[in-house]
Amino acid sequence: MIADKLKHSEIKTENDSDKLIVEKVFSHKQEHVFRWWNDLTINEQENLLDQLRLIDFTLLQDLIEKHIEGDNLTSPETTTLEPPDIIPIPQNDSQKTRSDEARKIGDNAIGTGTVAVVTVAGGLGTRLGANRPKGTLTISPIMGKSVFQLHAEKIKAMMKKYDTVIPWYIMTSLNNDEMTQNFFEENLFFGLDSDNVSFFTQGVLPVIDLQGKLLMDSKSSIVTSPNGHGGTLLALKERGILSNMNERGIKHIFYHQVDNILIKIADPAYLGYHISAGAKMSPKVVQKTDPEEKVGIVGIRDGHLDTIEYSELSKEERHAINPDGSLKFRMGNPAIYLLDVDFVENINESHFTLPYHKAVKKVPCIDENGCKIKPSENNAAKFEMFIFDALKHAGKSIIMEVVREDEFSPVKNAEGKDSPDTAKQSMINMFGKWLKGVGVEIPKDEVGNVKGTIEISPLYALDAEELKEKIDQKIVFTGELNLQ
Ligand code: UD1
Repeated sequence: MIADKLKHSEIKTENDSDKLIVEKVFSHKQEHVFRWWNDLTINEQENLLDQLRLIDFTLLQDLIEKHIEGDNLTSPETTTLEPPDIIPIPQNDSQKTRSDEARKIGDNAIGTGTVAVVTVAGGLGTRLGANRPKGTLTISPIMGKSVFQLHAEKIKAMMKKYDTVIPWYIMTSLNNDEMTQNFFEENLFFGLDSDNVSFFTQGVLPVIDLQGKLLMDSKSSIVTSPNGHGGTLLALKERGILSNMNERGIKHIFYHQVDNILIKIADPAYLGYHISAGAKMSPKVVQKTDPEEKVGIVGIRDGHLDTIEYSELSKEERHAINPDGSLKFRMGNPAIYLLDVDFVENINESHFTLPYHKAVKKVPCIDENGCKIKPSENNAAKFEMFIFDALKHAGKSIIMEVVREDEFSPVKNAEGKDSPDTAKQSMINMFGKWLKGVGVEIPKDEVGNVKGTIEISPLYALDAEELKEKIDQKIVFTGELNLQ
């Protein structure tokens, strides 16, 4: 059968519902997906129809018109961009007092069981090249604990400290949901009660070629891709997580990306500032390491709080400096947010408005002869929503700066910058800093890295303060220290 000569009467189907979906595919000029229909088994035909049934063809048409046939604008044009007002890292007494006050409010919110954690872990980890969920990577410097185990132990330690329940919701995608859930089951949920750990899958979107046609990865399946971390907000509603949160009395969501190994789960001072300001969605920020660092920045774009991706900043903006020589746009985005449950509900109720961003990529697929191809040039467009596009709907936000070395070290690449090696080193350096704070001598090399290996389990101490209460201060560091 040749695609452009296909007629929908040639696609024999079992029932009216199947017929309807076939008609829809033809009316949206995507009939090439039936090119091999007569070669497929009944099961394969059903699978293909099931996949097609899940596609929102109106949205797809919209994306094609806007991003393929349209002007190719992937992001709104910025007219004004200003740095935001931030809550600084406390330096003087009055800032420390404010931070302590905020912390008390946050302590109360956690202690009364109104805080939940949402971890987004639906990405494919393509840059990392690992064929498994990022959260399953072994990462802790001595015990070789996985990323998920470290997050789980932090949550467990917080629950113990506050004598409360902090439900944990993990967003996966169809590509990694089973592997992720199996990993938790095999590891007995790392000591957490499985009733307090839930998984929910984000939506997927079809991947299209640069002419707007659905790509296929076999004769009976189309290529799909997760709809971006902005899909979290939609999935929280659609997968019943918001209802679950409401039943449990959750008011605030602590949101973070699975790949940040230093994440400080449900930081009470951050919660306190957010709550006392009546904020609805609040980002944390960290200083960029250098003007060309590939992190988004948080800024006020055209009057609204927003995150501006590295690629969207002009060279002048990336390098702009203040009179004191500091970078003007230096507030990098570690992708940590507090979101109120009622805000996420409102965003869903008042029609879902996050825009889709296009990314042009090399995506393996089959060609018109049904042969697998691994393209060497970009051949496909993927569409993703970004969570930070919700910031402009929040009305009120606080932006809190935190010490980068204490809270942000992502695992993005297999080697070099932001890799498992740098993540391990950043953990060791942070533990070294805590130990130095209690008077333990910690040797460092010429670039400031701790010489030696240290691991401190979250179950032993969650921060420098807790370490101080527990540790024998006469301890001598001899190159390896493991506190579990
Ligand atoms: C992202 C931010 C960037 C920020 C950086 C911090 C975007 C567009 N940019 O960049 O501003 O400075 O993180 O680390 O987000 N994920 C899903 N589902 C998806 C896509 C992603 O769950 O559909 C999750 C991934 O599992 C990962 C996280 O979101 O935990 C980040 O995704 P990634 O693609 O690595 O974002 P970056 O480009 O690194």
